Formats: sequence, C-alpha cells, structure tokens
Amino acid sequence: MQELKEKIEKYGTVLPGNVLKVDGFLNHQVDTDLMYKIGQEFAKHFQNQGITKIWTVESSGIAPAVMTGLAMHLPVIFARKHKSLTLNDNMYTADVYSYTKNTTNRISISKKYVDKGEKVLLIDDFLANGQAVEGMMEIADQAGVEVAGAGIVIEKSFQPGGKELRDKGVEVYSLARVKALTDDGHVVFN
Ligand code: G4P
Ligand code: NA
Ligand code: NA
Repeated sequence: MQELKEKIEKYGTVLPGNVLKVDGFLNHQVDTDLMYKIGQEFAKHFQNQGITKIWTVESSGIAPAVMTGLAMHLPVIFARKHKSLTLNDNMYTADVYSYTKNTTNRISISKKYVDKGEKVLLIDDFLANGQAVEGMMEIADQAGVEVAGAGIVIEKSFQPGGKELRDKGVEVYSLARVKALTDDGHVVFN
C-alpha cells in the first residue's frame, strides 16, 4: 500500500534493536484517514470468503481491526492481555511470548462471543515473530473456529513470523513489508 509506505518513510523512526517506531500515525496517535483506507484494503482482499468476525489483540491492533470491521460490516473482538496466570472457565486463553519485551502474556477471548462454525480474520499492526497471530490461532483451534487469514499492517519480513505462518498455509496479507532497518535509520521495503 503506497500511501502507508510513504507515511512510514516520512514519519517512521528506527530505534536500536530493529524496532520501527510509528507512534505518529499507528501506535499512539492514529491517522484516521489512513487507518480507514487500511480497513478498506483488508476488506477488499478478504471479501466474499464468508468471514463472520474480526479478531485482534489489544491494544495497537484495535484501530486497524475496527476499521476493517467497519468496512466489512462485521463485529470485532480484541483479545485481552493479562500478566497473571488466571484461568477462567468462561474464556479461551493462549500464552503469547514477546521476544521484544521478554515477557509472556496470557491473551483471552470470552466464550460468550464465539460461536462454533465461525470464520475469523486476524488483524494486527505488526508481524515480527508471529506470536500474537499464533496465539489467536491457538484460541481459534480450541473454539473450533476457522481462520480465513491474517491481515497485517507492517510485516518485518527479516523476522521469522511471516514465513512460519505462510509455511503453515495461513494466508498472510501485509500492507507494507519491511526487509531491513538500517543503522543510519532507513527503512527498506521488499
Ligand atoms: P510478535 O511475536 O507478536 O510478532 O511480536 P514480538 O514478540 O516480536 O513483539 C512484541 C510486541 O512488539 C508486539 O506488540 C509487536 O506488535 C510489537 N512490535 C514488534 N516489532 C515492532 C516494531 O518494529 N515496531 C513497533 N512499534 N512494534 C513492534 P504487543 O506488545 O504485543 O502489543 P501492543 O500492546 O503494542 O499492542
Ligand atoms: Na499489536
Ligand atoms: Na504493538
């Protein structure tokens, strides 16, 4: 998506540890016009597949997921993240390890909002190691829900998540694929 790449080039900054900071339009302040177009782009790509719901993980996934839900006229669920290891019979849960933050979070979705036979589209802002998407897939598995694919705003293709998911047969659709972040602060796209 050309407009997204231009925003990344103009406003993105490269931090140590291969982190791309996009707080100006995606992760903190949200560019709503751009986000609306992102939702429409995911909707166009995943249309006519019988998708019943959008899933994401709080917090940065919510904006693109809600815009996608709006464009597809579908409800959105954002999995909640907890530090604690609380178990709850009314929740589907999965553990998500963050390489970046070296922490494990338990994500959960209430059984109340999941129906058997559903087909869900997974949306996230970043795809790096793929742990968030894997966690949602684990929950889909528990719930007997089909996964239509994953819509990703920015994929860091030099990290293994995208390849691992595609190797498993998951349809991963990324709007910008970053193949390198250079030491002098440049973003190189695929
Ligand atoms: P992954 O396995 O889910 O692909 O991600 P990873 O553990 O590598 O990263 C942990 C968190 O950092 C995730 O957010 C992920 O979206 C985010 N992240 C990874 N690489 C980048 C990056 O280059 N730039 C930015 N801005 N974020 C990145 P999270 O902590 O799970 O979610 P949230 O609370 O931020 O929404
Ligand atoms: Na995220
Ligand atoms: Na994030």
